[in-house]
Amino acid sequence: MIKAIFFTVLTVVFFYIIWINNIFAPHEKYEMPQEYKKIAMDVKYAKEGKELFIQNCAACHSLRYDGVYLLSIQANPMLASLQEKYGKFIPKDVYQAVFINELNALKETFGKVPPDLSTIYLVKGPEYLYNFILKPQEILPGTTMPAVMEGRPEETAKIIAYLKSVSEPPPEEKTKRTLMGIVTIGYFVIMGILIWLWRDRLLKKMGLH
Ligand code: HEC
Repeated sequence: MIKAIFFTVLTVVFFYIIWINNIFAPHEKYEMPQEYKKIAMDVKYAKEGKELFIQNCAACHSLRYDGVYLLSIQANPMLASLQEKYGKFIPKDVYQAVFINELNALKETFGKVPPDLSTIYLVKGPEYLYNFILKPQEILPGTTMPAVMEGRPEETAKIIAYLKSVSEPPPEEKTKRTLMGIVTIGYFVIMGILIWLWRDRLLKKMGLH
């Protein structure tokens, strides 16, 4: 009985930490006004956000998961032939080898290649992005990223909505994954109960009783 309680508590704590409140994940707090957070959380703005991204960010940042490349790379005829071969997503090593001149040009200007932003939403979260994009210098003193969105919080929120939509699987894929998770855990729970109910018979069969 004590054992059962112990393992139940252990399981509950485990899933609480994984799903609800990960105490091991970094929890720096950045402020974000509610009205803009609403926009950033709404995939409805992703399309507009994509256009804003191409206008304001694609000079320096790619978003390869969505097939958005640096403006200088879009001007390179190699891009079309690579996309024909690989589809929307060109493998990283090929990408870096073929477009080394474009990437180096950025590196020379900014001290480093501005990162690809395909998964930045998952890594940094909306609050950090909102503050960083509006005021890069305040969040990362000494950074070479210019404040291209200064004074444009609403458009910044729409860009974040776009970054979110790219970094996450589409809604139907998300439902499928949640369902698979529930079915898997359900299977283990039911098997656990059955084994517990049949333990005498199982032990006898194994010659241990
Ligand atoms: C003129 C070039 C340039 C433009 C335009 C630009 N960035 Fe950047 N960005 C940079 C550079 C350079 C860095 C690397 C900063 C560093 O690590 O110091 C960076 C870094 C970032 C990071 C990572 C921050 C971190 O904490 O690691 C994000 C997010 C980002 N940019 C978003 C954007 C968005 C969104 C836009 C468009 C609204 C944009 N940037 C436009 C040059 C640019």
